[in-house]
Amino acid sequence: MIQKKMAHIITYGCQMNKYDSDVISRILEENGYDLTDDEGCASLVLINTCSIRKHAEDKVLSKLGALSIRKKDTPELRIIVSGCMAQRLGAKLVHRFPEIDFVVGTGMIAELPNILKGNGNNPLTPFVKGEDNPLNPPLLRGTNPLSLFDNGEKVYTGESSCLYPETHINKKGLKSYVAIILGCDNYCSYCIVPYVRGKPRSRKPVEIIKEIELLVKTGCKEITLLGQNILAYGRDINESFVRLLRDIHAIDGLLRIRFLTSHPRDITKDLIAVFPELPKVCEHFHLPVQSGSDHVLRLMGRGYTVEHYKRMVEEIRQVYPCPSITTDLIVGFPGETADDFENTMNLVKEIGFDTAFCFKYSPREGTPACKFQDQLPEEEKARRLKELLDVQKAISLQTNQKLVGTVQEVLFDEKNPKEGAPLAEVAPLAKVALLAEIALLAEEAPPADECSLLGRTRGDKVVVVPTKTHKIGDIGMVRIAKANNWSLKGVFVDK
Ligand code: 5AD
Ligand code: SF4
Repeated sequence: MIQKKMAHIITYGCQMNKYDSDVISRILEENGYDLTDDEGCASLVLINTCSIRKHAEDKVLSKLGALSIRKKDTPELRIIVSGCMAQRLGAKLVHRFPEIDFVVGTGMIAELPNILKGNGNNPLTPFVKGEDNPLNPPLLRGTNPLSLFDNGEKVYTGESSCLYPETHINKKGLKSYVAIILGCDNYCSYCIVPYVRGKPRSRKPVEIIKEIELLVKTGCKEITLLGQNILAYGRDINESFVRLLRDIHAIDGLLRIRFLTSHPRDITKDLIAVFPELPKVCEHFHLPVQSGSDHVLRLMGRGYTVEHYKRMVEEIRQVYPCPSITTDLIVGFPGETADDFENTMNLVKEIGFDTAFCFKYSPREGTPACKFQDQLPEEEKARRLKELLDVQKAISLQTNQKLVGTVQEVLFDEKNPKEGAPLAEVAPLAKVALLAEIALLAEEAPPADECSLLGRTRGDKVVVVPTKTHKIGDIGMVRIAKANNWSLKGVFVDK
């Protein structure tokens, strides 16, 4: 049964969306909602959406279809759509699903409290047409820049002057995401992000530091700094990524720092040389190469060559003995020939990525590549994807096997999922396989008085370790005893 003021958030897409959902959850709580995992009893369902590929949007559309049907029986149900699809489609979403109460674009999260409050005490009262209508909340009236919404009623896709509300940390945990820069202006020819997330806007260092200090106070030991193009941090506010990294590194109690996503064009020898001075920065580099062919990289507008990419990976490997290098790859880009694809396969084998997130090219309306000639048939894209995934799977196993016998620092953040804890984030395609592996590793398992903990190495690999004495939150040195495709098993070497 629907319960008043219970909210359920559904998040699709990337880490930035997960971070935004966390911000949103805080806003909802501050506005009197209790969060629930049970969609069925929520009076408000908020869907935080992703537009990166058609598949991601299709999932949202089918969810909205189901919710719209439910709303016919339960008219008190409120539906809010936020995120990239909200920004991209705006009023079109409301036309297709009139049951939606509000569409809140990516630049409007900070305004959500005002949007939620509606007019006066009546939460979620739709706005009345016309910017100046006195029934609308003050912030959305008159000449205020926030009155940029599309139809004066339900759609908020303008850009707030503030990126996030001031204090918004919500989730308490060992590991947290912290967004430091939003947006991207690289305009890679396939990518919708610059259109839905806007130009790069860096958050102020003091705001970021304050947020991380607060997180650390509540028990956080590892943060992942987020940005669609993280190495562009600071360019718009005369700050620098390295300076920020140094300041974050100085925060007492914080043990590990990661960052996502680095554009290979912005990785330089000088930058790589800085990382080992900052030992909290983990030796895990996510460097999306997208293709192993210079011809395709040019068509994509990526701004680097395969040679540059290989040189940078080499530099990283000179600085660290065993770094994790992960990547994103797109197959079946318009104009990708059999030779181009072969070059991608060769690069994958040559570099030996620890993990690769591989995608079929998905045409996004409004991006240049969508109009390129030589779009590949779906079957060919699927064939190439499968070939690539098979090769990468074998390579992931090899990179894991190289760790057998080594001692790795592991931060334990979960119990064996068999015992009921949720599994932290892994590559979606690997998730089922990883769960199966962990179940097996746990089966070979320990006597009844021991349990298994799951943790991550500095290279972000999942490790299962049997233990009687350790607990979640511990950091321990672990000798790797066994490697699978997506996970490792080890034993403690301390004590
Ligand atoms: N089609 C397929 N994959 C895409 N990505 C971005 N846009 C598209 C698209 N149109 C992939 C890229 C990027 C990752 C986040 O998603 O590999 O790095
Ligand atoms: Fe998209 Fe390219 Fe920006 Fe990444 S760098 S978000 S792929 S436009």
